[in-house]
Formats: sequence, C-alpha cells, structure tokens
Amino acid sequence: MRKLIDKLYREANLTDSELLDLITNISSQDREYLFECARNKAREKYSHNVYLRGLIEISSYCKNDCYYCGLRASNKCAERYRLDKSQILECCKTGYELGLRTFVLQGGEDMHYTDEILVDIISTIRKSYPDCAITLSLGEKSVTSYQKYFDAGANRYLLRHEAYSSDLYSKLHPKNLNIETRLDCLKNLKQIGFQTGCGFMVGAPYQTYEHIVKDLRFIKDFQPEMVGIGPFLPHSDTPFGEEQAGSVYLTLTLLAVVRLLVPTVLLPATTALSTASEDGLVLGVRAGANVVMPNLSPVDNRKKYELYNNKLYSNAESAQAKAELEKRIKSIGYEVVEARGDAK
Ligand code: 5AD
Repeated sequence: MRKLIDKLYREANLTDSELLDLITNISSQDREYLFECARNKAREKYSHNVYLRGLIEISSYCKNDCYYCGLRASNKCAERYRLDKSQILECCKTGYELGLRTFVLQGGEDMHYTDEILVDIISTIRKSYPDCAITLSLGEKSVTSYQKYFDAGANRYLLRHEAYSSDLYSKLHPKNLNIETRLDCLKNLKQIGFQTGCGFMVGAPYQTYEHIVKDLRFIKDFQPEMVGIGPFLPHSDTPFGEEQAGSVYLTLTLLAVVRLLVPTVLLPATTALSTASEDGLVLGVRAGANVVMPNLSPVDNRKKYELYNNKLYSNAESAQAKAELEKRIKSIGYEVVEARGDAK
C-alpha cells in the first residue's frame, strides 16, 4: 500500500484499479501516511497557507429537485429567502473588513436572478472590490450567461459534477437533470476562462467505490482549479432522509487522493465535513485541504439554507470567530492568510 501511495505522490496518478485498491483497502496506519504525503504536496505548492472564502448564500429558492438536497423544489417545509443587491453588498463589506478577499455567491437555481440582475450585482462588487476574487456557484446556465458573468468580473465558478457515472447521477437526480449537461457546463466554464471547480458527495445513496474511482478519473482528466468534496448528510424532508451519512474517514482519504492527483488544487475543508465531525476542519487540513469557507450570509437567513440537517452556521461575521478559526489553524502549524488565493 505504501508503494502505491509513493507512486501517487511521485506521478500524480494511478491506474483505475490501483485507485480502487487504495480507497477500498487502506488501513488506518497507511491512511496516516497518505495524509502526510498530501500535506507535503500541499506545502510544496501553497506553503502552509490556508485561504479563506466568504460564502454568501444568496437564495434558498431552487427550481431543481435533487433527491439529496434540502432546498429541492418539492420540499414544502423549506423556508425560502433571497438576498437583494444591497444585502449582498453588505455581506461583502463585512467580509472585506474581516480580511476576506474572495466572495462566493452561492444559491439554488432561482429564476428571480436574471442575467441582468446578476451582471449588475457582479459588476458592482467588481468595482467596489477590485482586489477581490468573485466566485459564483449558481448552477447550470447557458454558455452566453456564463460569458456575461465572466465579462462582468466574475473569476471563478463552482459546479459540482456530483457523479460522473450516469447511472449514479440518475439515481440522485430527477430525469430532467443529466451528467452530460453538467459536464458541458463545466467545459464551457473552463473554456470561458473561469477558474473552475467540480466535486461530489462521499457516501451518497447507491454510491460504490467503483463510482468514486470514476469521479477521481474525471477530476484527474478535467484538471479543475478547485474541488469540493464533503460527506453526504441526510435531510429529513427529502427522499434520502432515512439514508446513512457518508463516512468522514473516506472523505478525508479522498481529499488526500485529490490533493495528490491534482497537486495545485484549491481544496476546501467543507462545511459538511465540519458538520459530520467536530474536528472536521482540522482533519481536512491535515488531509491536504487548504481552503476554508466561512459563512458571510446574514445570520437570520443561515438556517434557511439547509442543504442537510444540522448544517453548521459558523459565526464568521464576528471577528471573534475568525480569531478562533485562525487559532485552530495555527495550532496545527498552518496560517490563515489574507490573499485572493488564486490557483497556481
Ligand atoms: N449532504 C451533503 N452535501 C449536500 N449537497 C447538497 N445536499 C447535500 C447533502 N444532503 C452539496 C451538493 C451541492 C453542494 C452545494 O452541496 O454536492 O453541489
């Protein structure tokens, strides 16, 4: 197993059957070795830096009906809200004063935000904060829309591919959503010039190790600048409400494998990971993650953006919480830095 891990470290690649062997059979001792290799690789590329992204959850409305997600359209229990331009700018202001230099506008697929509205919001943020990166995470759009957002000043786009296997994809999503469209969107984003992020949930219902190998192969081939990976967590008002949560250990293993497959990747220790484990943040960074995404959404809205039950709403808007975060990161030998943190 160590030989496999050394090869992955050296060559930033393994065959599919080696990847399957690695993720299926790794012992807890070898996992520690894998994490060490992933940390070394992260250090080679990004030193001991941990980058912050201020997450602004702009809307909990969604026209889609993904079986796993608490924001799905048919969840009538979900409380819905959307932020207007002035609220979003207020979040940016708070974030900027806290030292955040990336703003992530994330939301359900909410048709209220026309291209015109979004372009206005993006270009205003761009003018007000010329030194900041603007990341969008707003789902599937036409290539023309993506181009408009890019031209207005957005730099990055997060769109998890969710499942490269079309079989699995169709077990997680209703018929009107398919992996081909998702992959087209990702290719368009990259071609336009966005730093692009894909990713998937670990331990989603029906997901096998073989499916995960396909996700890893896609990530290796696509060479995204960012990858989001977190455990699946059930939401009681969804069809998957009674399903088991994904494994924290497997999530950490996959963070480390992704760090080694794509050494320059910007890799968050996700909120889902911190929700699944109290030490999620520290464990994630120790497995090769180098990004944390504190929540900048208005406090009253946070619990309405409920992708899964018990989602944490870390109080990043208080300087105190940021100090606490910095302390935790420092205690494991890393440093939270005030920088845009673009992909190398
Ligand atoms: N558990 C974990 N992650 C989830 N997401 C959506 N619902 C859940 C859930 N129940 C993830 C999806 C989506 C991202 C915004 O959140 O992967 O892309």
